[in-house]
Amino acid sequence: MQRAVIPAIGAATAWRDAARQYLAAGVPPEQIIWGDSAAAPDLFATSAAPAARAVPAVPRSFVSMAQTVVWHNDPERFARLYAFLWRLKDAPYLMTDRGDAELSRLRQMEKDVRRCQHKMKAFVRFREIGAPDAPRRSFAAWFEPTHHTVEPTADFFVRRFSDMDWRIVTPDVTAVFEDGTLSFQDGQAKPDLPEDASEQLWITYFRNIFNPARLKVKAMQSEMPKKYWKNMPEAASIRDLIAEAPARARAMAEAAPSLPPARMASVQAQLATYASAWDGPQQELPAAIAACTRCPLYKNATQAVPGEGPTDAALMIVGEQPGDREDLTGRPFVGPAGQLFDQVAGTVGLDRRQAYVTNAVKHFKFVPRGKRRIHQRPDTTEITHCRWWLEAEVALVKPKLILAMGATAAEALTGDGTAIMARRGQVTQTAAGQPVLITLHPSYLLRLTDAQAKAEATALFAADLATAARLTA
Ligand code: URA
Repeated sequence: MQRAVIPAIGAATAWRDAARQYLAAGVPPEQIIWGDSAAAPDLFATSAAPAARAVPAVPRSFVSMAQTVVWHNDPERFARLYAFLWRLKDAPYLMTDRGDAELSRLRQMEKDVRRCQHKMKAFVRFREIGAPDAPRRSFAAWFEPTHHTVEPTADFFVRRFSDMDWRIVTPDVTAVFEDGTLSFQDGQAKPDLPEDASEQLWITYFRNIFNPARLKVKAMQSEMPKKYWKNMPEAASIRDLIAEAPARARAMAEAAPSLPPARMASVQAQLATYASAWDGPQQELPAAIAACTRCPLYKNATQAVPGEGPTDAALMIVGEQPGDREDLTGRPFVGPAGQLFDQVAGTVGLDRRQAYVTNAVKHFKFVPRGKRRIHQRPDTTEITHCRWWLEAEVALVKPKLILAMGATAAEALTGDGTAIMARRGQVTQTAAGQPVLITLHPSYLLRLTDAQAKAEATALFAADLATAARLTA
């Protein structure tokens, strides 16, 4: 008979190592007595390590399940896991057998532990214990988890509270984070923790987020089980809040018609901005675009890039947004996409100098990666904000035809940015009735790596540019 004693701290690794060893030595489950360090020693058991052979392959899904189940409070957890592992070695499909009662039981245990981890993340309440002049602030919390979840959940608190010292004391294990190092110690009895300022903060916060009109007592108690209340300062308010809820909800309902939602004013202001049009003097349009702060894109871009070309052009060409080169020079389509455009336009007799060339969005949107700035597609809010300028340019130029290159331009001009390939070559309209010819964006052609696909897409693009030239001749 083998006896495996799994310590409370480091149980996951200890169980895994022991299980591997037994499996490699071919020790069947009935030959092993598993226990944690708190269990009484068994008189007939022996702890001598069995002779090892090669460890059979174990499915990853089992390893991941076992790493959670080991923290369950069921005293049989180690034995159950090993018994299942023993069966698994001859039947690897078992992990997907939904009808297997033992697997269901283990899956349920896994869920229990995860739920307990979730509760721990939500309900641990720290109190400050350090001296006011200490270099690092110091906190402690007392918590009584249902399962042994301190160790597997400690990383969460390390990530959250890496700049302070803290300890979470529980009856079976204590997690200690000091000077950036996490360690585990034996559990302790409930310490006497001082009440501190954050206690009142929790109470105020909880009272403020409590919505009496949404109160569902059962759902609330299932989410925040009563067993945690005693260690949560804000829980003292719960009984009163529940009792007051019906009257407060009635009062809210009665007051509702005279209280417009707080965000209504800002939503209305935003809608009014979208609906309005730029009405400054025409010659000031480029300067007004240059000074734009309507959306946050101006913060990282070098400059806004307004349209350029004759303001009485018959053709207006609209791209997506300036790229890296355009952002630096302040001119549209001077980078690789612009060069490709010029090249294809040249083959069909379209002279870009005769057109007014602009973009749907006037600032370069990017994320820095090392020394490079990687293009990001503008979102609908940015496109909508910038439509104000595009519409001002359309009103200024009054083109016979607008050529929308790519989904962003199509969205800005027609409100529909979907499936360009299916719509290209067609003439549609802006909301105000100006004709818009949809085509591909030259950057799309640049990204194609398959030579044949590139040739085909380029031919379609050339055909659309030829249509634009013909319609504006
Ligand atoms: N891509 C665009 O859409 N516009 C430019 O100005 C440059 C690249």
